[in-house]
Parts: sequence; structure tokens; C-alpha cells
Amino acid sequence: MKKLLSLLILLTCSVTAFSQGNNYEQNYKKYEGLALTPPMGWNSWNKFACNVDENLIKEVADAMVASGMKDAGYTYINIDDCWHGERDSLGFIHPDPKRFPSGMKALADYIHAKGLKFGIYSDAGSQTCGGRPGSRGYEFQDAQMYASWGVDYLKYDWCNTEGLKAEGAYKTMTAALQKAGRPVVLSICEWGNDKPWEWGQTVGHLWRTTGDIYNCFDCIEDHGTWQSWGVMQILDKQEGLRQYAGPGHWNDPDMLEVGNGMPANEDRAHFTMWSMIAAPLIAGNDLRSMSKETTDILTNKEVIAVNQDKLGIQGFKYASKDSLETWFKPLDGGKWAVVFLNRSKQPQKVEFDWKNTPVTDELSKRELNASKTTYKLRNLWTKKDVGNTKKAFKAEVPAHDVVMLLLSSK
Ligand code: GLA
Repeated sequence: MKKLLSLLILLTCSVTAFSQGNNYEQNYKKYEGLALTPPMGWNSWNKFACNVDENLIKEVADAMVASGMKDAGYTYINIDDCWHGERDSLGFIHPDPKRFPSGMKALADYIHAKGLKFGIYSDAGSQTCGGRPGSRGYEFQDAQMYASWGVDYLKYDWCNTEGLKAEGAYKTMTAALQKAGRPVVLSICEWGNDKPWEWGQTVGHLWRTTGDIYNCFDCIEDHGTWQSWGVMQILDKQEGLRQYAGPGHWNDPDMLEVGNGMPANEDRAHFTMWSMIAAPLIAGNDLRSMSKETTDILTNKEVIAVNQDKLGIQGFKYASKDSLETWFKPLDGGKWAVVFLNRSKQPQKVEFDWKNTPVTDELSKRELNASKTTYKLRNLWTKKDVGNTKKAFKAEVPAHDVVMLLLSSK
């Protein structure tokens, strides 16, 4: 009888444990209300790769403020791969003591004191892409550690994840972050492999849609077993994804390469298109030494306002002819952003007859009908008012460049 009773108790306990805990795939909950517009910040990877240390990060935080980037809306200072040291005997992760001798809490405090937020990087697998310790099997401990440091943003990568299913792996980290109790933006970085746009909305705040960006306008860089993609290649890969984006959950076409070596026209086109597709604006250049041209691109508040529009409707390609593309993005208050993107190496003339070209967005059910409403036109790069929609718009778009207009009826 006694034996039977103990067996019954044991059985009940295990059934309860199974149904209550440990099933992260069902019991996960992301932090709502974060990233209602696309996140804006800086990340170390594109420029510095594994060469990160606390002095660099502090100097970049200083420069974020001094350069006007903070005023323009950039908030997150994110350390990418290679900050890691080792796990201690209990399994808790610590930063590399040589590169981060003051520890992550002190660094986070420094960043927070400037009114900025602090982001970090990990990986769902056994090791990060840079070969540092991954979070697999340590998700709850890592999330707890990040919370104790004051982390506000986690980019969670996908190297060395053999045998893992992306959706479950990311949900586990979402549950861990929730358990740790500190609101964190979760950036899902599995390169679009397992269609994160289909399951990511309740799991994280942004998801990479592609492999890594490469610092060139129109090229593919072959690394043998993998490829990285130029700005135009990444743009093309966003086709068909706009319905998945919205406030709190964004398509992420990867971080910006503005200021990393492309000429100003290409940087301008890159920044413009990322704004049009409501992409996270995560700068990836050296903020300490950027040229005036780069600063002017990254801090153009009127272009940023298009990206940060509160409706969060991702823009769309309306037409494409001879390497000249026309893009539209519906904005709050009945406004529209319009871009003419010249992908060719020659200047191209554009002519757009607003009154005879009504534009309808089936997704957002918005209509731009210039035969009914007259819109004022403003060129967001020259920062000049350029007439209205009563007359056809004529311009020349330089090679690998854009003309970007704001249309407003009031
Ligand atoms: C992957 C990611 C990159 C970067 C590196 C770091 O390639 O996609 O954005 O984080 O790993 O190793």
C-alpha cells in the first residue's frame, strides 16, 4: 500500500511538473510595447568584427551623443560577437576579462548614464559564429546574467545549432528573458532560413530576413560555403515580406553599411531604402570618426521620420523599368513617401504624372489619388519644397542614387 502511495505521488508530481514547466514552446511571452517603431542604434560588427573592448564601446557611446545621432533617435549601443570570456564553474557567462576588465554592469551603467540603451549578442547554438560560448543549454542563466548587467537588447544568432528547430530555440530564449524580468528587445538572427516572419511576431521584435550584408551596392561576396549580399541584393530579397512587419515586429534586412566605404550616393540610396522598408536603423560604422557626409546621411531627420512613422507600414515597389524603381510608403496623416531609385550606372530621367497615376496599396487599403487631392512635394535630401502634384514631377536621378519625396495634403 505504502509503495503504491509513493508511486502515485511520484506520478502526480511528474505529471504536474511536465504540464507546468519546461514546455517553453507553449509558455513563452515576449515583452510587448518595445520597438513600436523600428529600433535605432549602433552595432559593432560591420566595422569592428571581433575587435571589441570596453574603451571602444564607451567612445562610441560618447560619439553617439556628440555627433547628433542620439538627437536623431539612435538609442541602442550593441556589442556583437566576441565579447565573451568563459563560463564559471556554475555555468554563468562572463565577459573577456582583458577586453572588458570593468565588467558589463559598469559598461551598461556608463551607456545608461548617457540616456542610451545597451545591447549584447549571443547564439542559440553551442558556440557563436565567432567561436565563443553559445547559449544552448544555458538560456535561463544567460538571460539572468544579462538582466543583472542591465541589458536592453539581445541579438541572438544561429551558428552551430545542429539539430535545433529555430522556432523552439528562439521561444526558449524569449521565455528565459521573460523569466529574468528585465524588458529586452529580442533580435532574431537566423538569416531567414526557417521563415521567421511566419512565427517571429510573438517571439521577438525583429528578425533577419537574409544572410549577412556586404559593404557594396550591387554585388555578391562569395566566401566558399556561404555568401554575403550587397545592398541591392538584400533589397530584392525583401520581396513578399511586407505584410509580416508592423509595430513591435519588423523585417530586418541587416545592419547599415553607411559610412563604411561606399560613395555618398550609394550610402544615401542604402539609407533611403532601409527607411522605406521600415528596417531597423542600426548603424555599423565608426561613429568616432565619421565624415560630415556620413553624419548628414545618418541624421537626416526627415528621412528618419519616414522610417519611424507610427503606422509602421513597410513601403513597396510600385514600378520597375530599365533599372529605375519607384517605391511608395503610406504614412500617418495621409502622407506618402515616394522614392525613385536608380540602380544603373548612368543617370536616368524620371517623369511621374501624379494626377493620371492613382496608387493604391491593397495591404494597407490606402490610396494616393492626386486627381482628388493635391499634395505638396518636398525633396527630403535637398530639403526643399518642390511644388505639388498638379504638375507631373520631372527630375534626373544620378547613378546609384535616389530622389526621395514627401507628399502631404495639408
Ligand atoms: C553572423 C551574423 C552577423 C554577425 C556575425 C558575428 O554572421 O549574421 O550579423 O553577428 O555572425 O559572428
